[in-house]
Amino acid sequence: MSQSVSIAVVGSGYVGLVAAACFAEIGHRVVCVDNDEAKVRMLREGGIPIHEEYLPELLNRHRENRVEFTSDLRKATQGAQAIFIAVGTPQSETGSADLSYVDAVASEIARSIDGYKVIVEKSTVPVYTNEWICRVIERNGVSREMFDVASNPEFLREGTAVTDFLHADRIVLGAETPRAAEVLGAIYEPLSSGEYYRSANAVPGPRTSDDPPPVLLTSTKAAEIIKHASNALLATKISFINVVANICESAGADVQEVAKGIGMDTRIGPKFLRAGIGYGGSCFPKDVAAFRHVAEQMGVEFGLLGEVEKINSEQRRRFFRKVRSALWTFRGKKIAVLGLAFKGGTDDIRESPAVDIVQWMLKEGATVTAYDPAAAARASEVLPAGPQMKYADDAYAAAQDADALLILNDWQEFAELDLKRLHYTLRYPIVVDGRNLYDPAKMAEMGFTYLSVGRPGISHTRDAAVGPRLV
Ligand code: UDX
Ligand code: UDX
Repeated sequence: MSQSVSIAVVGSGYVGLVAAACFAEIGHRVVCVDNDEAKVRMLREGGIPIHEEYLPELLNRHRENRVEFTSDLRKATQGAQAIFIAVGTPQSETGSADLSYVDAVASEIARSIDGYKVIVEKSTVPVYTNEWICRVIERNGVSREMFDVASNPEFLREGTAVTDFLHADRIVLGAETPRAAEVLGAIYEPLSSGEYYRSANAVPGPRTSDDPPPVLLTSTKAAEIIKHASNALLATKISFINVVANICESAGADVQEVAKGIGMDTRIGPKFLRAGIGYGGSCFPKDVAAFRHVAEQMGVEFGLLGEVEKINSEQRRRFFRKVRSALWTFRGKKIAVLGLAFKGGTDDIRESPAVDIVQWMLKEGATVTAYDPAAAARASEVLPAGPQMKYADDAYAAAQDADALLILNDWQEFAELDLKRLHYTLRYPIVVDGRNLYDPAKMAEMGFTYLSVGRPGISHTRDAAVGPRLV
């Protein structure tokens, strides 16, 4: 039977809150700290600030029993054996990670230390951050044997965060001392031993008691680099396939066939080869920039990452130009938009390509009616509703009398539209799909002018792109 560990998680964002809920789920006692009083109040009252599958169930299961919420960092950390730092590490003006929240939290932890603690970096941080945290804590008068700083990077994806956490590909533990490694090992023991997967209420996923996630024990620095390098490599894969898509588009080939052919090579693998309008979100853009900055600081030339970023920002512009050329001009056009979050399955609009594209269309005089199953409330903070910008309650309401429909993220329901209904709802049956959710031949058969990314564009009729709908 695994032992229960007392844990404090500082920062209740996507990473902190999910980690806290999952630590409770695997049997630990967790205090979640956040300096946003309103968020703490909401969490205490049973509210959940983010859209994440299984998170409500887990928090309901463990609230007031194994998880509590507070804004009092001192109280939370004093009883804890391990303190996870999961505050934001946003991009600063220079592209490097802004570590001021981590710095502030480290000082505050130092002032509350009352016994040996393992302080764990959970946020994505540049290599050497662990040494800085050590220095900050020592500067506050805490002796070295009272604490260790370890790194336990988190690889969860938004939308599937709980499953990713509990059914991880790997658990990376970066620690410098046996006692830090021991505490971290005990925290993950219910997963690494397979015990969790035998419990009746376990969140379902690919891992089983016979195939639990492997633990990789590394140095703290290696763990820090593993996180940055993983995100940078995934972003590179996406930019790579997007350029290949653009080649396919000119050559008249289908990038999905090409991606399938590349991905069948087990050395490459099929994942993260979906061409589209580029990556967004709170991690890839900031982590690619931060890793490039880390390389620079180490005196290493990593121009590749600059190219990855350039390709990524060009991809959404290219898509925007594609829409414009299908419509001739945006002024006075009514555009339906499906998807505002940076991908399907989340309400997060940080660095969302969809938001940029909508903004550019509005600037060129289009009227936009958008639908996203979860992100409308957040999107309306940057794209306020008004005469030019409207929000609809479903895909068909967004499509009503529109001159074209754009698909900008990949919610499952966007791939399952009633195409007949969509056809007669739109003013012109033009669909520009930034996520390749439909088969071009099927769309043509259904009477649509259908443009996607890296696949031959197909028109139902030669002039369907500008002409009225044929009934
Ligand atoms: C996380 C990681 O921190 C980041 O490194 C990783 O790359 C992506 O995910 P995320 O969980 O998305 O960030 O951050 P965010 O949603 O901004 O949440 C951070 C939380 O920390 C917020 O609730 C904020 O109120 C809180 N916070 C911030 C503190 O409690 N104290 C602080 O000093 C600063
Ligand atoms: C990512 C990493 O996957 C995760 O391991 C890390 O902890 C945080 O950053 P996330 O940002 O939640 O997770 O989303 P992810 O599913 O990785 O997608 C990132 C972006 O890439 C999205 O905009 C998505 O639409 C895009 N993407 C992803 C593609 O364009 N093509 C793909 O093949 C895959």
